[in-house]
Amino acid sequence: MQDIVSKAIVHGVYIITTRTKEKINGMTAAWVSQVSLKPTMLMVAIAPARFTHGLIKESGYFAVNTLSKNQIEIAKLFGFKSGRKHDKFQNIPYFDASNGSPVLMDAVAYFECKLIDDFKAGDHSIFTGTVTDAKILKKDAEPLIFKWDDYF
Ligand SMILES: Cc1cc2nc3c(=O)[nH]c(=O)nc-3n(C[C@H](O)[C@H](O)[C@H](O)COP(=O)(O)O)c2cc1C
Repeated sequence: MQDIVSKAIVHGVYIITTRTKEKINGMTAAWVSQVSLKPTMLMVAIAPARFTHGLIKESGYFAVNTLSKNQIEIAKLFGFKSGRKHDKFQNIPYFDASNGSPVLMDAVAYFECKLIDDFKAGDHSIFTGTVTDAKILKKDAEPLIFKWDDYF
């Protein structure tokens, strides 16, 4: 079933970032969507085992960073290592969004969200957030579309 879903449901590729008092971190996520118009709200599905899962709950904020089509290596950097053991931001320039979430300077756009809810959904949690800060950083860049074979 999963092979059919991943070929026929279209996703982009994003870096979900967050900041707690002690730590910044980011992870790659494809399962991201808008879920409300007014207020503008996004969702991201994150497995409980991810380090980012606990950090977002602690922080109360997360940012969705949109990657461009030439940034598969950044998706791999943030998607195959855990921030529990690695500083994934070591060589990644970033700035802080209004509520402190790190934003990749090289992102196409970012959306910082205030965490509103989390719901259990099978083996993932759905985090919903209201967009509190957003900007297009690269006007003409094409977003990266998730293709299973690029990574797995
Ligand atoms: C292309 C790609 C897409 C991914 N999408 C998701 C996703 O939507 N949700 C999720 O929980 N993990 C996803 N992952 C896996 C996490 O990015 C990965 O487990 C990461 O190492 C977690 O980092 P952390 O432990 O620092 O939070 C994806 C990985 C890749 C490479």
